[in-house]
Amino acid sequence: MKKSYRILLLENIHPVAQEQLQLQGFQVDRRLDSPASEELRGLLRGYDLLGIRSKTEIRAPLLEEARHLLGIGCFCIGTNQVDLTPAKELGIPVFNAPYSNTRSVAELVIAELVALSRQLGDRNLQAHQGGWLKSADGAREVRGKTLGIVGYGHIGTQVSILAEAMGLKVIYFDIVKKLPLGNAAPCAHLQDLLSRSDFVTLHVPETPQTKDMMSEREFRKMKKGSFLLNLSRGTVVVIGDLVRALKEKHLAGCAIDVFPVEPSSNKEKFVSPLQGLPNVILTPHVGGSTEEAQSAIGLEVAESFTRFLKTGSTSASVNFPHVDLPLTPNADRIVNVHRNEPGVLGEINSLVSKNGANILAQQLSTDSKVGYLIMEVERAEAEALSTDIGKLSRSIRTRLISHLDQQSAATWAT
Ligand code: NAI
Repeated sequence: MKKSYRILLLENIHPVAQEQLQLQGFQVDRRLDSPASEELRGLLRGYDLLGIRSKTEIRAPLLEEARHLLGIGCFCIGTNQVDLTPAKELGIPVFNAPYSNTRSVAELVIAELVALSRQLGDRNLQAHQGGWLKSADGAREVRGKTLGIVGYGHIGTQVSILAEAMGLKVIYFDIVKKLPLGNAAPCAHLQDLLSRSDFVTLHVPETPQTKDMMSEREFRKMKKGSFLLNLSRGTVVVIGDLVRALKEKHLAGCAIDVFPVEPSSNKEKFVSPLQGLPNVILTPHVGGSTEEAQSAIGLEVAESFTRFLKTGSTSASVNFPHVDLPLTPNADRIVNVHRNEPGVLGEINSLVSKNGANILAQQLSTDSKVGYLIMEVERAEAEALSTDIGKLSRSIRTRLISHLDQQSAATWAT
């Protein structure tokens, strides 16, 4: 008998997620809003999985009441809106879509390289206001210029490829050794990159090391007349020092998409000391905000849900030990989350012997709090063994995935 899980999608998640999940045989309801917590509490009783974006807060008390949930999907990048550790301790993996908007950010960077080089923002504003500043002064092609990429990860590497196609020379700095793409060349030190680049674009995560990474000292290292782009995180740049470098005309302009403090909604006023400065492009954290990215996010989390429900895979989860066991044809699988305490595996193994089960394959991953085990056994023993494992005092959650439920996941995975 195939199991039909019930999934609730909130906050106007892209409809492609609902379509994909329904194609996999799940029952999916989609709402445009984020219900208040009282209503949500009641609603969740009818569902096995929940999909949210950034508005719906899932805190520990709500998780306690919704401990039957099998998983939560954040159809966005950030996962701060969910209490991740309490979710894990209740056996609820949380998924997100960290890389679905990579290309959108990279495209905006390319657009801004040209826009800064041609002072497009200022020319556009002046023309709207009735001005006519036809001049080639200070307007340059990007071809042949050097682009310095700080952080050569998903976005940095995409920018690298696109920029080379436009004739830029690419250099990069990363704290991890990264394979250079195309003709890009690594720099051993950030200072080296800064002193050689006509454009510096930041693509690092928010960490203690990247906080205030670009301050007065770094701006001084940058070439006179060069440009800075920050579409990464607001904490990476000291805005006051950037303003000074612009006012002193050491930098010829910048494009900033992320800020140390950002308005919490579109209704709140945005204030920044960068406002009103020439050749400064300011955007409201829209680097990754495209319709394509929203659709890609919908597909990515829908796929994570499907793989999790049909195979137990947690490899796309942000709060759970990662387990991704390849499927054995015709085997049923038992997935078990347990408290990571001494002796628990011994208990599971003695139940395997007691039930006379033959383990066809298994994978276990643990962290300091929980262990996550996927075990494949022959069908005859699966149900009784799964029930026994589920009754162990240290089991948090145990689920039997019949071989019948696995089939379309295998198709998706190939
Ligand atoms: P990623 O994790 O793929 O790449 C980050 C790279 O930075 C890694 O290669 C890492 O080794 C490197 N790195 C870490 N610390 C460093 C340091 N101190 N110095 C030099 N390199 C360092 O991340 P991804 O997806 O490329 O994202 C990059 C940034 O872009 C993140 O901060 C992310 O939040 C932001 N972002 C912004 C968006 C927007 O709308 N503006 C949308 C999507 C991501």
